[in-house]
Amino acid sequence: MKFNMIMKIKANVRHETASGIHRADCASYKPRSKMRPIPLFFICFYALLSSLQCGTSSSADDRRWLVSLVDLVELDYVDHCEQRANAAWNELTGNSKGLASKLERDKTFGMFVCQQTTDIKSALTAHALAPDDNVLRRKVKLLLQPGDTLLDTEQWIKLVTFGDNAQNRIRFATNYDCGTTTNCTLKELQYNLARQQDEETLLRMKKSWENNLPDLNDYLEHILPLLRNASKQNNYNSVEEYWDALGEYEGAILKARELWENVKPLYLKLHKYIALRLKGSDAVGKPLPVHLLRSLTGDDWSNLIESLLPKHAGVYQKVHANLQLKNLGGMEAFKQAAKLIKALNLGDADPNIWTESVFNSTCPPTLVDWCKPNKVRAITCKDVSISNFIEAHEAVMKIVYKQTINLHSNNTYILREASRYSAVYEAIPGFVSLLSVNPHALSDAGLFPLETFNYNPNAHRLVLQLIMALRDLPKLNFYLAADEWRIKVLMGAIPYSKIPSSWSDFRRNFSNIESGDRDFLGDPYMMFNKPYIGKFMGLILKYQIYQSFAEELVSDESDLIMHIAENNDRLIDAMIQGYGTIWPEMVSDLLAKREYGLEYTGITDYYKFLDEYLDNQLDPSAYVSSDDYIETVDPVPEENEIPSSPENQETIVPETPETHEDIVDNVIDTGESNHHKFSVETSTVGVMEIKNVVAPGDQKEVNAKEASYSTYWWIGIAVALAVVVILIAIIARKRHSHRKQLERQRRENTHA
Ligand SMILES: *[C@@H]1O[C@H](CO)[C@@H](O)[C@H](O)[C@H]1NC(C)=O
Ligand SMILES: *[C@@H]1O[C@H](CO)[C@@H](O)[C@H](O)[C@H]1NC(C)=O
Ligand SMILES: *[C@@H]1O[C@H](CO)[C@@H](O)[C@H](O)[C@H]1NC(C)=O
Ligand SMILES: *[C@@H]1O[C@H](CO)[C@@H](O)[C@H](O)[C@H]1NC(C)=O
Repeated sequence: MKFNMIMKIKANVRHETASGIHRADCASYKPRSKMRPIPLFFICFYALLSSLQCGTSSSADDRRWLVSLVDLVELDYVDHCEQRANAAWNELTGNSKGLASKLERDKTFGMFVCQQTTDIKSALTAHALAPDDNVLRRKVKLLLQPGDTLLDTEQWIKLVTFGDNAQNRIRFATNYDCGTTTNCTLKELQYNLARQQDEETLLRMKKSWENNLPDLNDYLEHILPLLRNASKQNNYNSVEEYWDALGEYEGAILKARELWENVKPLYLKLHKYIALRLKGSDAVGKPLPVHLLRSLTGDDWSNLIESLLPKHAGVYQKVHANLQLKNLGGMEAFKQAAKLIKALNLGDADPNIWTESVFNSTCPPTLVDWCKPNKVRAITCKDVSISNFIEAHEAVMKIVYKQTINLHSNNTYILREASRYSAVYEAIPGFVSLLSVNPHALSDAGLFPLETFNYNPNAHRLVLQLIMALRDLPKLNFYLAADEWRIKVLMGAIPYSKIPSSWSDFRRNFSNIESGDRDFLGDPYMMFNKPYIGKFMGLILKYQIYQSFAEELVSDESDLIMHIAENNDRLIDAMIQGYGTIWPEMVSDLLAKREYGLEYTGITDYYKFLDEYLDNQLDPSAYVSSDDYIETVDPVPEENEIPSSPENQETIVPETPETHEDIVDNVIDTGESNHHKFSVETSTVGVMEIKNVVAPGDQKEVNAKEASYSTYWWIGIAVALAVVVILIAIIARKRHSHRKQLERQRRENTHA
């Protein structure tokens, strides 16, 4: 009760302080005296309520003073967050005053943060923190090192003005070239970029986008160098050190480089394969122009998928067709993602998302966070595609992540929203996006029946891996390129005259991509000087999380989704910690203590099939020898796949899309899918531990008679296996509830 009264007093006090921002310059700001009237007033009240005398000083008082100041500061942060979110939302939704109010709010925020930092500093006396005050110490640290907001006010304003204006222009320009006679919007540009085939037109489209980007010299002279100043303000000697600190990982960039060296061979193979399929063998190994990748910055090659499909791409064709049929774009894609997340027992997405978000804008999804329990909204596009579908899973999981943190009341503002770049925060949503193409998830979503999957699991897995690789490998490369290049420029490692063309030089060497000199300026992390290191680490970590769960499956027949749903404590535990713990300390628990830090093997193991396939494609002699594999192929026919005409395996011909009959088939398939919950499932782990590896692309066509025989046989096996699976599930559930019970008892004991 006492506590409630104090909260009320605080709330009143807070309103009186609202107008207290008047400073112009953060760095030169002198700490105000501890005797500022309002907290004093508040402290006196607090002291009265605690039957202490106002004015006596002890370490307990110092601590109480600090605690209440931190509470007040956090409440003020929440107010700022709400106002900034309102402004950002207005800007994103095209309100005519949106940009102006966003600029205003962002500027004010910088001043506010500086002032709070100074206040906290002045309250931090020698006795304020007891040795076991870990949470308070953590909060104080996060509040004292807020990152770029510590810049001098004038410099902070420069940064947000640059970024806000640039983003607004890119989003709302209507002078893009979509390859047609009239100019178009960003949304139309994205849509057409995914479909345009003509190289010249693609280049024109990309150039029209570049024309809407901010000025390169302005960026190089006035924005990028702000990073040096921000490092200094946060007490770091170099930008690299500063970013390591914001990523809360010592030697982060070094570690990233080491991880990359091990993923690079796969990236280069994928790159060569693309060159081979798009331009022929002469182009292999040479830099590929970004526009040819149907991408604006080259960080995502998903639009190429249809040109790259292997011979047996039934899973792509069907999932693609079913997404269109069910219109799983925009809100529907988000809702499907929420279903999977619910099935994983990770939480229910707040229903207000559906009514208050905008689903007919541009992709990728942008989330706006009001820093309040359950108030995050999304702005996204309604285009239906596999990559938007996957992206939707990541976005909804981020929203549910925030909700989960919010459920834990001691995750106050700063432990939810700290300006840190946590790989765990990236990895868990990324992990869910990997699960969106899991065979069971695809089947449950009515996109591809499990039994069809199981006729040719390896061929299907290969296609799904290709879809994921086109998203994730270029991102991994782009993230590291972006950070490395910026650090290089700031260290003076590049001669002054070469700086303007250094981004495209760097991309050529590091990524084997021919990019523009300034296409990176379309990227929000670049515009706002944010490091990508957290996202890089998150991408690595998500595959490790995947691996940790996949390796736990009792057998290849188990359902990974169900397994995670029943064993997701480690995901939940990581989420609820928020920023209370630095993320590297959570990694070991998150991986069920199998690994203690970041390893590249999660990602390279995941792409095992793809890696083999790419080797075969790139080395024709090896490819011929893989024909020998035919006899080891599973003799079960592929009912739903049209036998492809015999092809010369060495000439690579893009697959023709499937016909309308297939779409009809698909509708029937999806109706059945629920009956097969317990049917035979070959390995969700498969990605890592397929025992009898079948070379992808080698499938046997069997005639219809054989088909019906083996179907009966197969049903028999399915029933037998279903019984086994159910038994295993029952046992697992028993063990699980037993464990839960034990835990409950343990908790009760410790509370008692
Ligand atoms: C289309 O965009 C180009 C390039 O920005 C511009 O010169 C032209 O005036 C625009 N045309 C229309 C009809 O808006
Ligand atoms: C960085 O700080 C220095 C010294 O305060 C200032 O002269 C310089 O203009 C700042 N850099 C930028 C890009 O504003
Ligand atoms: C998007 O949808 C909203 C309603 O949800 C509608 O008011 C708005 O006009 C639509 N915008 C576009 C560009 O279609
Ligand atoms: C959160 O609060 C609970 C009780 O409300 C407490 O047991 C726990 O230690 C707190 N955790 C942190 C990180 O403050």
